[in-house]
Amino acid sequence: MGKKKKKKKEEIQITAEPKTGLPEEFELRFEKHHDELRWLYMELYDNGSMFAELCERLKQFYMERKEALKELDRRREADPAWYRQNDMLGMMFYIDNFAKTINGVEEKLSYIEKCRANYIHLMPFLETPKGRSDGGYAVSDFQQVQKDLGTMEDLESLTEACHKRGIHVCMDFVMNHTSEDHAWAVKAREGDGEYMSRYFFFENSYIPSLYEKTVPQVFPTTAPGNFTWLPDQKHFVMTSFYPYQWDLNYKNPRVFNEMMYYFLYLANRGIDIMRIDAVPYIWKELNTQCRNLPQVHTIVRLMRIISEIVCPGILLLGEVVMEPEKVTPYFGTVEKPECHMLYNVTTMATTWHTVATRDVSLLKKQLDIVFGLPREYLFLNYLRCHDDIGWGLDYETLAAKGMEERAHKKYLNDYFLGLAGESNSRGELYNSDPVTGDARFCGTTASMCGVEKAGFEEDAAAMETAVQMDVMLHAYMFVLSGIPVIYSGDEVGQVNDYSYKEDPDKAADSRYLHRGAFNWELAGRILDPDSVQGKLFRRLNRLEEIRSRESVFVADAKARTVETWDTSVLCVERCYKGEKLLALFNFSETGRTAWIHETDGTYIDLVSEEKMAASGVNIPAYGFYYLKKIN
Ligand code: GLC
Repeated sequence: MGKKKKKKKEEIQITAEPKTGLPEEFELRFEKHHDELRWLYMELYDNGSMFAELCERLKQFYMERKEALKELDRRREADPAWYRQNDMLGMMFYIDNFAKTINGVEEKLSYIEKCRANYIHLMPFLETPKGRSDGGYAVSDFQQVQKDLGTMEDLESLTEACHKRGIHVCMDFVMNHTSEDHAWAVKAREGDGEYMSRYFFFENSYIPSLYEKTVPQVFPTTAPGNFTWLPDQKHFVMTSFYPYQWDLNYKNPRVFNEMMYYFLYLANRGIDIMRIDAVPYIWKELNTQCRNLPQVHTIVRLMRIISEIVCPGILLLGEVVMEPEKVTPYFGTVEKPECHMLYNVTTMATTWHTVATRDVSLLKKQLDIVFGLPREYLFLNYLRCHDDIGWGLDYETLAAKGMEERAHKKYLNDYFLGLAGESNSRGELYNSDPVTGDARFCGTTASMCGVEKAGFEEDAAAMETAVQMDVMLHAYMFVLSGIPVIYSGDEVGQVNDYSYKEDPDKAADSRYLHRGAFNWELAGRILDPDSVQGKLFRRLNRLEEIRSRESVFVADAKARTVETWDTSVLCVERCYKGEKLLALFNFSETGRTAWIHETDGTYIDLVSEEKMAASGVNIPAYGFYYLKKIN
């Protein structure tokens, strides 16, 4: 690329004038990335004409992209740290649960603003067969919204309305598989070879049985095995998730190209954050676990390049629910980045382990690993989401303390079922595997903190404790580096919803326990300071306000944990541009004292606004402090 062109790019960034006519910025972006794009594509597919087709379509999607979105792209290109600020707060919900329809969501945007959320994750809303949807993760048409929820036009209207209010919109891009009702799958089932080659078909069980030797199961109880026999078609088809979710074959360049066209089509509807669902699974090889293979990274890098060319304002959020060593490679490298953001999944599971054991040592170790990672890495922090909690902990470290994996997982499940460890939690197991003895856990934050039990037993004191624990966990989540995302309903302490058991389409999947409809009646009580909802909402809101105001919360701040000499008290230190915050969290039901060294000077607790010293701090049961140094 010549010097002249580089200069032009700077002009685009500085002036950000709407461009008409020749799309020079497209050409510049394309030229910048072309060599790598071609190299990676050829490495995977060695197919020049399919590559040429892809390039042609990229241009087309760029041309079709609305001017307002292109303008947003330019602003974000000029300010690459736009999403790394401390005012970013996410909220995730199912459209039907939250507001019935997409238009309903648009009407509820002022509630979202009241919650201080400026990022909404709309859970899967594309066309999916009823009763065979996996919560919408079995897409039968990537260009159609589920009829009950609205239309693509409604989606565009919502994203536009959100952008006017500074709210970013996230959606799922379910790329590992399609529904068996997707047009490709229907043709494949009819025996059309071209479409069969978009999936994994086998005439007999020989090859599937070889795969089964090395590929673990995702749903060992609700959907055992990785293949499904199609009696009408007389073939096995690969189905890593449910039998109605057919794995796509990314060895076929047609699959890659077409999926990228869907991706760009959706991006052009005004989406800001694409959650790439189940990304580690997208490449399959015999004799491997079919997880995290090198080709997966090539594909994610290709997606990143493609979005940098067509829609650089978009963020890629990778869903990698794996151990830390497998997660971080999805950030790519500084020169060749892959995802912008990843889930802080091990930290989430370790947090609940800490709740159940009242021992912060494993969490401290886990946080120091995360805090020690390059600050370019941005994590999405959460307490609960729509999925179960898998107990993916650092069992090597726990073994040194005499905690054996199987027994400890059982303890955690028993604890959260409310059966052990003086627990007040309520919830249910998920995919309890009789062979491995493994089980995951379902329940809302509030139910896991004791709100459900205290409410049922009408125990006011227990309710105070439950609310206190719930607030403390959110306060702790807000001091982690990255973007916190609240699971809708958590802001008003919504408890488990057992009604899914009466719905035959849902009864077998206990994740629906924490996917209940949002209770607007409860939300109506947020102004009542004596109600559970009022107490929780007001206190969380205050923390969110502090977080968005104080710059020590930015993702780029230097963070580490500090020794407190109490096994139940966690201390996180954050330092940024001469400012320092010491955040203390008591994970036990008794008062504790934190002894911290090197804490000269005066501090102010940002929550109560009281001045105090930071050494020898008495912290009540499930209490916390945000201590900011003032001199
Ligand atoms: C992701 C989703 C989960 C779904 C799976 C299959 O893990 O979070 O809900 O079951 O993908 O698409």
